[in-house]
Amino acid sequence: MLVVFGSINADLVFPVEHLPAAGETVLCPRFLFRHGGKGANQATAAARAGAKVLFAGCIGRDPWGAVLRAGLVEAGVDTSLLRESDQPSGTAVVMVAASGENAIVVAAGANGEATAAQVPDGLLGRETTVLCQNEVPLRESTALLARARARGARCLWNLAPATQLRSELLAEIDALLVNAAELHTVAGDRSGEAAERAMALHRQYGCAVVVTLGAEGALLAARGRLLHQPALAVDVVDTTGAGDAFAGVFAAALDRGTSWEAALAEAAVAGALACTAVGARSGQPDRAAILARLSHLPAARILEG
Ligand code: RIB
Repeated sequence: MLVVFGSINADLVFPVEHLPAAGETVLCPRFLFRHGGKGANQATAAARAGAKVLFAGCIGRDPWGAVLRAGLVEAGVDTSLLRESDQPSGTAVVMVAASGENAIVVAAGANGEATAAQVPDGLLGRETTVLCQNEVPLRESTALLARARARGARCLWNLAPATQLRSELLAEIDALLVNAAELHTVAGDRSGEAAERAMALHRQYGCAVVVTLGAEGALLAARGRLLHQPALAVDVVDTTGAGDAFAGVFAAALDRGTSWEAALAEAAVAGALACTAVGARSGQPDRAAILARLSHLPAARILEG
């Protein structure tokens, strides 16, 4: 069973020719509503990939709240740990350029009221995987991960968006998932390329370190070994939520008992396919679609170990 603790947002998606520079106004014909929030996106990606998923987060008692809950239910996510707050539902402005790259602003709203206490101890055991991100209060994620760890659950942390944190916290988790920019923040003044930094963190704290590199694929530092998984080639429409699809499917695979390496491959396929439609969740594949594309994925290469 997978417990995802994190954010849930209404994404207002503005398809623009290019991302505006500071002080610039750009026009687009209309905006689109899409389901979003890193936590909720990861929960739906995992559920579509076949995991039993509970989502713990917070929505507003506003019309968006009901819509956001329905999006989780439609994807097969258990919402019994979802709470309502007097704050407005989380909202994100997502600008997507013709190149597929994006820029996002999130108004946290109800996400700021999500608490670790929403997840009862009874759900945290050896059969549980817990997946957190960083769009709800950091103290709540760390509190949940500490309780989960103490009870023997597998603990995964997608530190997105990244903040500087006490790096000893990395010794408390099984895997850290970050993109290259986030790795830079977490690794502090450690020098070198992403591969060296990932391996340095893995050696120092023992947790597996997974780094997503967009079109360059992903790195996995685990059990003293560093792997590079090249990306699946796709026609990119929108990269929003690619990291979420990756993290959700990675967690779902580990929760099923899959090896780190196989989980990396499945996640790489899901992350790529998520880029083929507009919106964070629109391109999320189901398990059959992931399996169908695995054979198209270039083989991973051992870089070290
Ligand atoms: O990772 C993409 C997500 O980031 C969007 O869905 C947006 O809501 C923000 O949380």
